[in-house]
Amino acid sequence: MQASATSQPPASKELEALQTAEQGLLSCLVWAAETVEELGKVKEADRALIEDRSGKFLKTLKEVETTLAAAIKRTQTAEFAGSDSVPKQEAPDNSPSFIPKATATYLSKPYWDERFANEDSYEWCKSFEEFGNLLLHHFAPFSSVLEIGAGNSSLSTSLTKKLPTIFACSLDLSQVVAERMRDRQAADGTHIDWQVGDMLSLPFCNDCLDVVIEKGALDVFLVDRGSPWDPAPAAAARMHTALSEIHRVLREGGKFISITFDQPHFRKPFLKAPGLNWNVQLQTFGEGLEHTYCYMPFLCRIRRSYCSVPAR
Ligand SMILES: C[S@@+](CC[C@H](N)C(=O)[O-])C[C@H]1O[C@@H](n2cnc3c(N)ncnc32)[C@H](O)[C@@H]1O
Repeated sequence: MQASATSQPPASKELEALQTAEQGLLSCLVWAAETVEELGKVKEADRALIEDRSGKFLKTLKEVETTLAAAIKRTQTAEFAGSDSVPKQEAPDNSPSFIPKATATYLSKPYWDERFANEDSYEWCKSFEEFGNLLLHHFAPFSSVLEIGAGNSSLSTSLTKKLPTIFACSLDLSQVVAERMRDRQAADGTHIDWQVGDMLSLPFCNDCLDVVIEKGALDVFLVDRGSPWDPAPAAAARMHTALSEIHRVLREGGKFISITFDQPHFRKPFLKAPGLNWNVQLQTFGEGLEHTYCYMPFLCRIRRSYCSVPAR
């Protein structure tokens, strides 16, 4: 999980260097894997040679990536356990650190409750100002819009300010953030219907919403996936359940907008899983290795045809 806000103290220089190197390698891996996919368009005679070379390239990169991931894990464990081998870096100010010792903590409700009790606002991935203009045309007037895993981000507030006719609802597992956000909105005059609920079992009926949007929320389900090339079954199952729920509540023609740091190569297989009958479009924004991806699956359900049953 990564974030763009500055309220947390930076990890040690060693950890940062490893994470930057890993991001670079992951980008190379994605590029290489996409190149391999493109091979279908290459002449038969050249294909075997390119496949052989890119296969070896990919294998080497994957090995380096595995070594780096293991080093990052060791460094993080040492750092957050307060080991002497990795000097702890002082926080630049007195803001509390919400970085958990283990990334799996992001799956825990008490972690979010405690965090939201002490944190006013935080933007995961990027803030609305950096990508909002890419999205606005996807919201028709009077659309019903649900943001899931909304946290204390200002995404829905910014959306409703730009698009005052939409009916916005925000949902989060944490009652603490729901209450704090209701108070904040009462103070700034925006109207968003705040609900406490689980992305794995959305409290909405079938085919009832025009847009579902999320930013960094589904990423939580993958924090313990292990290798992104071969995600752990439990993490993959969570992701599939959440996407199936989103698919279920969207009406025909509805849209799901998903903003994430996860590379396209790792996210698309989830979005294109059997049973999810929608088209997927991808947009990229941000610079350098800080790319953020915006997925826009559009639902194009085939209408049921009603056949008349001949009278007996
Ligand atoms: C990484 S934060 C993203 C917050 C916000 N969307 C943003 O962009 O800053 C993940 C959010 O998902 C919420 N969350 C975690 N598990 C959830 C679940 N099963 N159902 C609903 N919300 C959940 C957390 O409480 C937290 O607010």
